[in-house]
Amino acid sequence: MLKVEDLSVSFVQYTKGLKQKDLKVITSLNIDIMPGEVLAVVGSSGSGKSLLAHAILGILPTNATVNGTMMYKGEALTTKRQQSLRGKEIALVPQSVKYLDPLMKVGKQVQSAVRKGDPVKAQKDVFARYHLKSGVDGQYPYQLSGGMSRRVLVSTAVVSGASLIIADEPTPGMDTAAVQESIRDLRKLADEGAAVMMITHDIDTALKIADRIAVFYAGTTVEVAPVSDFEGRGEKLRHPYSKALWRALPQNEFLPIEGFQPLPSALPPGCLFAPRCSMATPECSAGQPEARELRDGMVRCIHAT
Ligand SMILES: Nc1ncnc2c1ncn2[C@@H]1O[C@H](COP(=O)(O)OP(=O)(O)OP(=O)(O)O)[C@@H](O)[C@H]1O
Ligand code: SF4
Ligand SMILES: [Mg+2]
Repeated sequence: MLKVEDLSVSFVQYTKGLKQKDLKVITSLNIDIMPGEVLAVVGSSGSGKSLLAHAILGILPTNATVNGTMMYKGEALTTKRQQSLRGKEIALVPQSVKYLDPLMKVGKQVQSAVRKGDPVKAQKDVFARYHLKSGVDGQYPYQLSGGMSRRVLVSTAVVSGASLIIADEPTPGMDTAAVQESIRDLRKLADEGAAVMMITHDIDTALKIADRIAVFYAGTTVEVAPVSDFEGRGEKLRHPYSKALWRALPQNEFLPIEGFQPLPSALPPGCLFAPRCSMATPECSAGQPEARELRDGMVRCIHAT
């Protein structure tokens, strides 16, 4: 459904004396999603997850430069196609509730996303499923709590009938029942044939619904692995960062990862994880490791086996 290859995103920044500097925030990023699949994207804050979502939708700020290829249903995802597919074939559940239109009643906002069947019925059904009481549809975004606003955003994607759904941290602020309901719905949309990209900080949620997990670090994909590889002490995982991330979970070994993710303004040469990697050798700093296939997954590490 979607194939992103060698994507890079940079921002032009003006430093002292009006000098121009390119800030590279995404470097050589690859992902693909198939119909019927949930791909979870996990990675710490600032690793480029939302920027990837915005690059796919074509809604990056105007000072961003995008390179690389993005293919949707086998054809290049040009700016023109992005505009015509956005909100129809490709739906975004944005990370911020600020994306709701402040001047439109939320019921109308959800109804306007429906493309087949009765919009009012579709909106009322989905609100009932998400325990948004009747009357909420006549309210404006500012009248809703954060959790309610998120349920409205998820509702919009659920009723859209989109083929590709990108959900950027859809669940924070929701109560447990709503979290379960919305991740179950995203899974159901995939089971009915959509491709779902679910961006989350939370590996546990990802494990519940995803088929594969892509691990992001400092603006690149370091590993893509089937969900079943996230078990035990992470022996089946390929990249030292994914293993460390897995072992750092409270329910696992709760071992913190030494050091910090580098800022886009101070990326190390070669492998972006090298300064924190216990397996690093001088060769690791020679160039960014190429993405390669390994054991039914992908890894960007020259020493991974
Ligand atoms: N408009 C912008 N100009 C310059 N840098 C930006 C801009 N937007 C994002 N960035 C930088 O790009 C990097 C990736 O940001 P992004 O929002 O994609 O992270 P994220 O993985 O979604 O994080 P979070 O988990 O906190 O949502 C960060 O270092 C961020 O500071
Ligand atoms: S390429 Fe080297 S530094 Fe990078 S993750 Fe692999 S072993 Fe570590
Ligand atoms: Mg984000």
